[in-house]
Amino acid sequence: MDLIKNIKDIIIGERSNSDLIKEACQELILDDKTMREIMKRFLHEIQLGLKKETHPAADIKCFITYVQDLPNGKEKGRFLALDLGGTNFRVLLIHLKGDSEFEMQSKIYAIPQSIMIGSGTQLFDHIAECLANFIKEHKLQNERLPLGFTFSFPLKQLGLTKGILIRWTKGFNCEGVVDRDVVELLEEALKRRGDVSIEICAILNDTTGTLMSCAWKNHNCKIGAIVGTGSNACYVERVENAELYDGPANGKEYVLINTEWGAFGDNGALDFIRTQYDREMDEFSINKGKQTVEKMISGMYMGELVRLALVRFTKEGLLFGGQGSDLLFKRYQFFTKYVSEIESDKPGTFFNCYDVLEEIGIFHATDEDCANVRYICECISSRAAHLSSAGIATLINKMNDPSVTVGVDGSVYRFHPKFHDLMMVKIRELVHDHIQFDIMLSEDGSGRGAALVAAVASRDAHE
Ligand code: GLC
Repeated sequence: MDLIKNIKDIIIGERSNSDLIKEACQELILDDKTMREIMKRFLHEIQLGLKKETHPAADIKCFITYVQDLPNGKEKGRFLALDLGGTNFRVLLIHLKGDSEFEMQSKIYAIPQSIMIGSGTQLFDHIAECLANFIKEHKLQNERLPLGFTFSFPLKQLGLTKGILIRWTKGFNCEGVVDRDVVELLEEALKRRGDVSIEICAILNDTTGTLMSCAWKNHNCKIGAIVGTGSNACYVERVENAELYDGPANGKEYVLINTEWGAFGDNGALDFIRTQYDREMDEFSINKGKQTVEKMISGMYMGELVRLALVRFTKEGLLFGGQGSDLLFKRYQFFTKYVSEIESDKPGTFFNCYDVLEEIGIFHATDEDCANVRYICECISSRAAHLSSAGIATLINKMNDPSVTVGVDGSVYRFHPKFHDLMMVKIRELVHDHIQFDIMLSEDGSGRGAALVAAVASRDAHE
């Protein structure tokens, strides 16, 4: 049958829906030349972020974290941690026992949408309330435990306990927080309550926590990256290259840099690879024109990009006999977890794919539709994996150490069935031949990493 159809196609030039979809999806595939161009631009933007003169206008801000020591595994003590910036807000109690052993208790609290886009006071009162409840539940009122605050948004840090919010990302937009010191806002909220006493020892980004958490066990870890709700990376830079470093002249050679690479492309540097799906997604987002590459990589947007492509091909009559469903045409109703589920089907089978399509109200799909839907998912998730690889490979090449471990976390990296493998292959292609690298899952950087930053900070304070 196929053979006859192919011959017929060749003779009368008729192309199948799959051929047409594949052709249209070409723009999502980044070839080697394009990848190298992206890396070149990425490195350029990193350098602009690091330099004093060009930093103010730079897209990739390369913020100084003031974290200068990696953990050695011997850290000890009990710490509190707050984690804000992913899908959940968490409060944690972490007991580091030395010798890379630890215990942890944690509680997840919802952040209702009304708070995500409400006032800053409401947000910090909510955080303070959750923290106070946690402290009471764990009977910690009489201890003054050090706290590490993982606040995963672009912060211009002015010290380990001072960070000014530059912009909200990932669907947050609380009024009155941009340009303010977030540590101060939390302290004020705690003071308003007056029922708990806390010592905020450090504020950090989740990428910093990821790096620290990975370095705790693996001393070769020099990059921490997140591919989750958002996307970003931090890495170990030489102090002499970090022109904005104004910390003490302590003789330390290195400082961790939070790149905030999610903003790569905001000045148009990635326009040459953006597609109609990227542009439409941006048009309807709450931070239009911002976080360009994050919108091409991360979990908050991946499902929506796939949905936009599905809508296009349905309207063109190439999918589902030209007939969609209400949910298919509704923004953000194609979840990123669907992409992972569809790509987890064994080759040639479509069990998950049919389930997902039924969930969005499409009951009339054929095997050919499923194969096409899967292909579209693969194009968009591979592009995300390849863009993150371009970022990581650029950092690896820039550091130029003979061997590097990269700690990665985030829902997309964890749950997408091929993300890790795609990254391994692509990074190998892109890094200098003499460099060995490895990528490992960094467990709970936002919690354990926060405790480690607090521990290393208090170690320094007591030295
Ligand atoms: C967004 C935030 C960044 C964070 C990343 C991953 O890009 O701006 O700070 O690290 O998401 O959560």
